[in-house]
Amino acid sequence: MALVAPSILSANFACLGDECIKLQNAGADWLHIDVMDGQFVPNITIGPPVVRNIRPISKLLFDVHLMIEKPELMIPAFIDAGADLITVHVEACTHLHRVVHMIKDAGLKAGVALNPATSLSTVENILPDVDLTLIMSVNPGFGGQKFIPACLDKIKRLKQMILASQTETWLQVDGGVNLQWSKAVVEAGADVLVAGSYIFGAEDMQSTITGMKKLV
Ligand code: DX5
Ligand code: ZN
Repeated sequence: MALVAPSILSANFACLGDECIKLQNAGADWLHIDVMDGQFVPNITIGPPVVRNIRPISKLLFDVHLMIEKPELMIPAFIDAGADLITVHVEACTHLHRVVHMIKDAGLKAGVALNPATSLSTVENILPDVDLTLIMSVNPGFGGQKFIPACLDKIKRLKQMILASQTETWLQVDGGVNLQWSKAVVEAGADVLVAGSYIFGAEDMQSTITGMKKLV
């Protein structure tokens, strides 16, 4: 069974609280919160105050995906706002080990994300320290992009690395994930599926999420 983490990037921000409740009622496992700074990616989204405001509304695990430069400067604020899991990009961290342990020392789960062109070798030495590894299947910055098929092979190779390292690390996939790609991605080894436009664009959010969760 895959875990489903809908991305609120595709939500209607004018009624974000209601959208979060809708996701929870529809069976979402986690809430994927995309944070963009206009520097690491060419878009700007939300910051800690929004996370703090939706925290009391949702019981779901808050999966905060930081697409920002120098994430270490903002991590304390996201911890304080109620994040449960914080994922940073390897491309944005000079001292990745330090940043991962900054998150873990605060009692949160830590993840590392890789852009489509970033090699798996960049996570080899940090794998035993992280709770999650995120394979981006689009170039980060926007919802609604097309899944990059070459990422499937990367997911398979990462799964092998995780199995060989005998560590407990979720393999998350984010970007362009719909039911068709979900199937391929889960077969390749993914444990957690992020989907924004597919879930928010669905006529029946609940059956869409259920269909994705059933994949093995
Ligand atoms: C992209 C974000 C994704 C995105 C997914 O930069 O990290 O989480 O919102 O959206 P879809 O599923 O529409 O590709
Ligand atoms: Zn994301």
